[in-house]
Amino acid sequence: MSNSATWESPSNIALVKYWGKKGIQLPANPSISFTLNEAKTRTKVSLAKKQSKDDYEVSVIFEGVEAPAFEGKILQFLNRTHQLFTFPKAHKLIIETSNTFPHSSGIASSASGMSALALCLCSLEEQIEGNKTLQFMRKASIAARLGSGSACRSVYGGLVSWGAHKDYPGSSDDFATALDSNQVYKEFYDFYDVILLVDKGEKQVSSTLGHSLLDKHPFAKARFSEADKNMALIKDALKTGNLNLFTKVVEAEALMLHALMMTSDPYFMLMLPNTLAIIQKVWDFRKQTSLHPVITLDAGANVHLLFPAQENEAIFDFVNSELLIHCAEKQYICSTIGKGPVQL
Ligand code: PMV
Repeated sequence: MSNSATWESPSNIALVKYWGKKGIQLPANPSISFTLNEAKTRTKVSLAKKQSKDDYEVSVIFEGVEAPAFEGKILQFLNRTHQLFTFPKAHKLIIETSNTFPHSSGIASSASGMSALALCLCSLEEQIEGNKTLQFMRKASIAARLGSGSACRSVYGGLVSWGAHKDYPGSSDDFATALDSNQVYKEFYDFYDVILLVDKGEKQVSSTLGHSLLDKHPFAKARFSEADKNMALIKDALKTGNLNLFTKVVEAEALMLHALMMTSDPYFMLMLPNTLAIIQKVWDFRKQTSLHPVITLDAGANVHLLFPAQENEAIFDFVNSELLIHCAEKQYICSTIGKGPVQL
């Protein structure tokens, strides 16, 4: 009974956003993201002798400390994945997990956390059943999705789409797929994502609640059709290296996500004055230079600044001199585009 598996999985940042669900963790619209090479979760799952008669028995250790508060979410995840994996019911799962970013950085850890956990379960299943899991990564993506939608995109590196769309061959609502590198202008694989930490607090609105507000949202139909169009446009921008089109789609998506939050019932606003100050400065800077910093937002106040590697010197000068004053304790996370999870 010494089975264990360890994976390190990164976070991702969506370019076209997933906001709204249907069925069991299926997306109301397709989305596409950059996988990061920072903001990672490292998770080890070990199997021990089960002591209780409950369906599942877990013990979670977060950053070296027992964390029973996480058990509910893990049990929900195991229940949702019961058709994918049978072995978890026969063992106690000891889950040791830690992040490479501070827990209170305002950075969502569900994508990196749930993808790392799903990958561990796939590896353990292979160990126990003694044969290769067919389509290992696809199974991990399906399982990760059942933990947190955006997590299904973190099992692959580079550019990853999730959700059926006619322009993305092989795309599905059930799992994510990495874009073929011949469909992507090489510059995009060298992009930076500088995450400007405007607010390091806990999430104000859970993404579960946020997604559910789309069910009765007055603009939902229009939103889903815009997301579909933006998936087509971004595919074109990525293929041709059209940075102006890339900028237009990515920024429109970020603002639309927040416009949806501001117009749902109940409405809410996650941007803070410093979020807007940063966005305005980035837009002014772009007008004054021929450079291409692009802003995007998650469901929070932090700003992700995306830009091509060859512009990094000038843009880092700008970040240091103009933007860090708007960040909590002048903090930011510097990431580039990552190659995806690794097994340790
Ligand atoms: O995966 P969830 O349920 O935490 O939802 C993530 C939603 C956004 O981050 C706002 C957008 C996205 O596509 O990642």
